Amino acid sequence: MDHFLYKSGLLHAEDVPLPEIAAAVGTPFYVYSAATLERHYRLFVEALAPLPHLVCFAVKANGNLAVLKLLGDLGAGMDVVSAGEYLRARAAGVPGDRIVFSGVGKTRAEMRTALEGGIRQFNVESEAELRALSDVAAAMGATAPVAVRVNPDVDAGTHEKIATGRKGDKFGIPIGRARAVYAEAARLPGIAVTGIDVHIGSQLTALAPFEAAYRKLAELTVALRADGHDIRRLDLGGGLGIPYTRSNEAPPLPADYGAMVRRTVGHLGCEIEIEPGRLIAGNAGLLVAAVIYVKTGEDRDFLILDAAMNDLVRPSMYGAHHDIVPVAEGPPGAPTQPFDVVGPVCETGDTFARGRELPLLAEGDLVAFRSAGAYGAVMASEYNSRPLVPEVMVKGDHYAVIRRRPSFDEMLKRDTIPEWL
Ligand code: LLP
Repeated sequence: MDHFLYKSGLLHAEDVPLPEIAAAVGTPFYVYSAATLERHYRLFVEALAPLPHLVCFAVKANGNLAVLKLLGDLGAGMDVVSAGEYLRARAAGVPGDRIVFSGVGKTRAEMRTALEGGIRQFNVESEAELRALSDVAAAMGATAPVAVRVNPDVDAGTHEKIATGRKGDKFGIPIGRARAVYAEAARLPGIAVTGIDVHIGSQLTALAPFEAAYRKLAELTVALRADGHDIRRLDLGGGLGIPYTRSNEAPPLPADYGAMVRRTVGHLGCEIEIEPGRLIAGNAGLLVAAVIYVKTGEDRDFLILDAAMNDLVRPSMYGAHHDIVPVAEGPPGAPTQPFDVVGPVCETGDTFARGRELPLLAEGDLVAFRSAGAYGAVMASEYNSRPLVPEVMVKGDHYAVIRRRPSFDEMLKRDTIPEWL
């Protein structure tokens, strides 16, 4: 459930009509609902409540400081994958002991940043990284708390580009080698083992792959404890999928996920960490755009929007579906027609949807892409020298710009022409 509903024929974000924001901010823009973010975060907390737990929001899904502050103030931890994300979480007021650091390629400089600022745990993905982290920590006179990310060889059954738990994927340590790696970790001076980590992919629409992975994790916990390791935390990763269409998708709910977590690892007495990104932010955000032109093609009509693949790359990158809805709702039974919905960028890949059935829209009309709150603004670029899209947060009947649109002047000023040119 989200808080983007039609009231008096106009799509609202909570109590604010979207045309009001469009008039003030210009299009395109992202808009997030504070109430929806909060609700989705609380669903996870409730789902895990019987167990000691920390819900760490995956900052990669939406790194805006206002979003992180909202979640951090509710008690959320953060899952970060770069020094930049770490610094964002800290700038949003999240203490280091609620931040886990994931990712296959942490640099020594990034490790230092996190150790200096305070960190709950590094999720380490290779023996090489383990040794580097030990060196960095030992040189600082510190000890790095570590969970080793294991690769359980489970197929998440999701899009090829976002499945991460199969043995050929670049992520984690093969689960069969885990005991040897933990033995090495125990010998390293700068490392303190605290737990085990797993993340098998994103946009999972079934519980079975999670369940298979978590059962393997439970077995490994028992084996590692028998080897003398202090396994206190299990980081179960993120990945729970969301419905991208209103009609035919029904991914498992956080409550079902929580019950499965209790069933598979609840008996181990570990603190449970999870790293959801998409489920918290995805359906808490829209991308709002305006129609620039309606173009009649050879055999189809194109709706040319002022948003493009650089603003929301998921359709061109993953073939992802986003529902597109008119901001002004037509009367019931109003005629529709199929449109190819495209942006102004100069490649055919800049296509959001083909043959999408929409009302008879005209120049200047507003449309909204649903489910754009996760992996939307964070993946935007300035391709075609298009300014990064602004972001707006709504809470009740008020809103604020939480990232403004840069001016062309600012964009130009970032480049330097060498004096010898
Ligand atoms: N933890 C780790 C270690 C991850 O790699 C990810 C996502 C998450 C947590 C959060 O997963 P979520 O709950 O959001 O599914 N750009 C792609 C998604 C990439 C996901 C990468 N890792 C997309 O737009 O679909």
